[in-house]
Amino acid sequence: MKKIICYLLAGAMIISLAACGKNVDQVSSEDEAQAVISASEDSTEVSTETENDENVAEVEEDITAQEEILRIKELFAQHGLKAGTCLSTQMIDNDDYNALILDQFNSITMENSMKPDYLFNKQDSIASGDLVVEFNQDMIKMLNWAKTNNMAVRGHTLVWHSQTPDWIFYKDFDTKNGLVTREEMLARLDSYIRQVFEGLEEKGYIDLFYAYDVVNEAWMEDGTMRDSKWKEIIGDDYLWQAFNIANKYAPESIDLYYNDYNEQFKTETLVDFVETLKDEDGNYLIDGVGFQAHLYTSDNLKDYFRTVDAVAKLGVKVQLTELDVCLGAYKKPLFAVEENTKAQGQFMYDLIYGLLERVDNGTLNMDAITFWGFADDLSWRKEYSPLLYNKKLEPKFAYYGAMQIKEKAGY
Ligand code: GLA
Repeated sequence: MKKIICYLLAGAMIISLAACGKNVDQVSSEDEAQAVISASEDSTEVSTETENDENVAEVEEDITAQEEILRIKELFAQHGLKAGTCLSTQMIDNDDYNALILDQFNSITMENSMKPDYLFNKQDSIASGDLVVEFNQDMIKMLNWAKTNNMAVRGHTLVWHSQTPDWIFYKDFDTKNGLVTREEMLARLDSYIRQVFEGLEEKGYIDLFYAYDVVNEAWMEDGTMRDSKWKEIIGDDYLWQAFNIANKYAPESIDLYYNDYNEQFKTETLVDFVETLKDEDGNYLIDGVGFQAHLYTSDNLKDYFRTVDAVAKLGVKVQLTELDVCLGAYKKPLFAVEENTKAQGQFMYDLIYGLLERVDNGTLNMDAITFWGFADDLSWRKEYSPLLYNKKLEPKFAYYGAMQIKEKAGY
């Protein structure tokens, strides 16, 4: 049935496109919407063009259902997933990037602007004696953009050892003083998380959010807890405390995530950790585990799925939150020549295939996959060419891999 509707829409689109002289690559969401509207409003035009049913059927035979879907968000939506990218104001200020994001994605994560480094007002904190959260201009700009463009938002991130100002941990917010006590730090953590959710609510943005990273990167590959000022001051239960507080203030509609990298080397650690995040009635304080998925073409996907399956079995959600697939291995980048980009396309195909297969057969509760950008030259790991498009915004084998078009994915 889905297939038939697809064919009808594709047929209607081809007619409208022919009329306005565009090729399929140039179709935007608005064009598509317009094509569907004109197809239903102007029945004469459509019926004239579709009179020769046999010809239409022949054309349709040649087009696989997959090839008609030109957008990642449309493919993912068929499996109940959002398609995300990280976002900066630089991206929305550039017309080409902006158009590509609107076309392909329906969820965003701010690359930086919601990290702790950008969330506090030091002067106001000193003046009031409490940690004061202030939403910066870039964050507001992106939230307004998300609202206007119907984009869902992942919040990233509240508690992290990195990109967090040091002064928030000291008496009177002055690093020349000693660290605050556990009680004071817990009070600051509570106030911080409360202000974030209350602020989003007051400013009318809360409904954009469907997931929020409460804690980022707290565990090491050897299973030990990473050192941080949070841990040093509050103690090892700072993770439980953060989730407990977030549960108090976040609306039900926002899933609370623990987010980490090198996840395939942390399987048992993640499983054990998630099991500790329960309230006194045994209910999870956590909704999902974010797999950052900063991967390499040299990675072993079997290992990767072992971690996916182990975490999924706990009954929590899993999302890929920062997906990029580097050419080569850690500190051994490969050039973006065809042989390597083809391997990347295959890797992407196999990864997404394995995830969608699990989602479809009900063994994986996943509602979004977020790529950490789209164009190689904008990536934080640009030397590894890890994304779906080259710098000219041409789709790579990896794009077709993500789109599950196997014959174009480098195979
Ligand atoms: C980590 C963080 C992200 C980002 C990347 C680098 O994965 O979670 O927010 O800083 O590193 O861009």
